Amino acid sequence: MTQQRGKFITFEGIDGAGKSTHIAFVSELIRARGVTLVSSREPGGTPLGEKLRELVLHEKMHLETEALIMFASRREHIAQVIAPALERGQWVISDRFSDASFAYQGGGRGLALSKLDALEQWVHPELQPDLTFLFDVPLEVARARLDATRSLDKFEQEQADFFSATRAEYLRRAAQFPERFRVIDSARSIAAIQAELAQLLDALL
Ligand code: ADP
Ligand code: TYD
Repeated sequence: MTQQRGKFITFEGIDGAGKSTHIAFVSELIRARGVTLVSSREPGGTPLGEKLRELVLHEKMHLETEALIMFASRREHIAQVIAPALERGQWVISDRFSDASFAYQGGGRGLALSKLDALEQWVHPELQPDLTFLFDVPLEVARARLDATRSLDKFEQEQADFFSATRAEYLRRAAQFPERFRVIDSARSIAAIQAELAQLLDALL
């Protein structure tokens, strides 16, 4: 009997939207159903990817270098983690994937989307998430949540117009790929968001 391929779920949103908070919750729900789940993140997810993450989150660089590093980290992540797990029938949750490159490098930094399309075609011509949760929140709410927590990396130090363009590109992609995106209104309480996530997962499980 051939092994059924696992599901690939990605979490997206501007910094401070609440991804990390809800990844823990969703992971628990999936594991409670007896599904083996691999939880990972981008940039990062492999030893080499984590080194690239350190560089790309803290060093100044040309915007195309930044995009190339994101996809280099992703290439390694797919080869080492995502594809083997899905083939084994395990599920994979990734805290960000290629939609983040379109939103941040494309929307935020203004890199031509055609270049990102070319990188995506090169790095994962076949692979797309089965489900993408987009945590959507007004910039001021996200910013207030971030300021309340930790020290800010290179992206988190960007100004409002950067995040406004990033958020707009995320929403544009959600409208372009409605079959896999679920836009979550993240200005609500954590409890309200979790109730919606549980319902959406029920449909998938
Ligand atoms: P992200 O991973 O998207 O950057 P986090 O999950 O780390 O965001 O959330 C940033 C901060 O906001 C954390 O302190 C978290 O507890 C808080 N937070 C997340 N979601 C909500 C919410 N719906 N209401 C209030 N605070 C929230
Ligand atoms: P994230 O892990 O969400 O940050 P944190 O752990 O601080 O919550 O993401 C790191 C940053 O990298 C985030 O600001 C978005 C950015 N990023 C891109 O610009 N392009 C990409 O392709 C990816 C995956 C992330």
